[in-house]
Amino acid sequence: MASTRPELSRPQLSIAELLAELAALSQISEAEPPVVTRVVFSEADLRARAYVKGLCAKAGLAVREDAVGNTFARWEGSDPGLAPVGTGSHIDAIPNAGLYDGCVGVLGGLEAIRVLQQLGLKPRRSIELVIFTAEEPTRFGIGCLGSRLMAGLLTTQQALALRDKEGRSLEELRTQAGFKGSLKSVALPTGRFHQFVELHIEQGPLLEQEGIDIGLVTHIAAPASMRLVIEGEGGHAGGKLMPGRKDALAAAAEIILALEASAKSSGAIDTVATVGVCEVFPGAVNSIPSRVRMETDIRDTDRARRDRVLDALKATCAEVASRRGVRITTELVNADPPAACDAAILAAMESAAVEARKSYKKMVSRAYHDSLFMAHIAPVAMLFIPCRGGVSHRPDEYASPEWIGSGVHVLARTLATLAS
Ligand code: GLV
Ligand code: MN
Ligand code: MN
Repeated sequence: MASTRPELSRPQLSIAELLAELAALSQISEAEPPVVTRVVFSEADLRARAYVKGLCAKAGLAVREDAVGNTFARWEGSDPGLAPVGTGSHIDAIPNAGLYDGCVGVLGGLEAIRVLQQLGLKPRRSIELVIFTAEEPTRFGIGCLGSRLMAGLLTTQQALALRDKEGRSLEELRTQAGFKGSLKSVALPTGRFHQFVELHIEQGPLLEQEGIDIGLVTHIAAPASMRLVIEGEGGHAGGKLMPGRKDALAAAAEIILALEASAKSSGAIDTVATVGVCEVFPGAVNSIPSRVRMETDIRDTDRARRDRVLDALKATCAEVASRRGVRITTELVNADPPAACDAAILAAMESAAVEARKSYKKMVSRAYHDSLFMAHIAPVAMLFIPCRGGVSHRPDEYASPEWIGSGVHVLARTLATLAS
């Protein structure tokens, strides 16, 4: 395999096909393109899956799906009995997203396999492209649904309790989408994958700012999410005087600002906290808000520090509830540990970057990824490429063809080494 490596650095490593596929995938959206919205099990998600599965079949990969729709596209190695090397990411997209988050790892992973095929390589281990179901928490409120189930970190009972905003269950939606069989069967044992490597855009500004081609991810930060429901007292916005009010939104505002302050004062730049969902009831300009539902997102590379912010949030809720006379209920959705990437994969990625003559740096991932959960059942690591201005989860997310090409090039070399 080593003898084929120089071939990979040839300039004819073309990504025109990949760019066209990324563009075509972005057209499959619930929103008007170029805005990408692809919520899991939506009509757009199912069409996008069909498109990607078609590309995989065209590349000669054997495609299989599990009971929640995680998709495995396998390029058989010369020793099919060996555990495969995995690569991949997700193709679902949050509302009002761009076209690179997740998709670069899926279609870039496919391109890396095609490049190796074109070079006439026959890896010893099979290489499996994985397309994870619902990395984004949009529909069921919990991120990385497919990889959580795969790693056995979400029980069948917990999964069966998941509902979307319309009250439709995961069970109903996945079977309607054609994914049948027991959810229990989604869990995979340690050793099912020999190693797993995920290509992704950085979703932060550092690589671009520093003019670096590739990020070698050493750690993935620990995410947590808590839902809050604040119940106050509604009433007439004119008639009800200020002293007697129990305004649920005013209480929410205090909590949001306190959460922001506690993340800012954690002592580390790595602590981040966001309130991305805030629903106000009844939502009329002349009516005092009686109920607010919020979803909070707290992350840190350090789990204990993240947990201190989570604890401070709970304390703030108790204090605001008692002072304002509102009722606040909290529900912890997830509080996951961080993941450390595997030294052997990092070494392979570093050699690959050197051989491909790409500049690189080691860095942490502040975003979460399916690799965070795959780390429970396999050694994992991630390759980052820059994205313009660090922008992600927005329609103007952008990664240049050169950045994508570098990522695919280093990924292809890495896969060749890991599967040899
Ligand atoms: C993934 O989309 C994340 O929110 O980190
Ligand atoms: Mn995302
Ligand atoms: Mn992503």
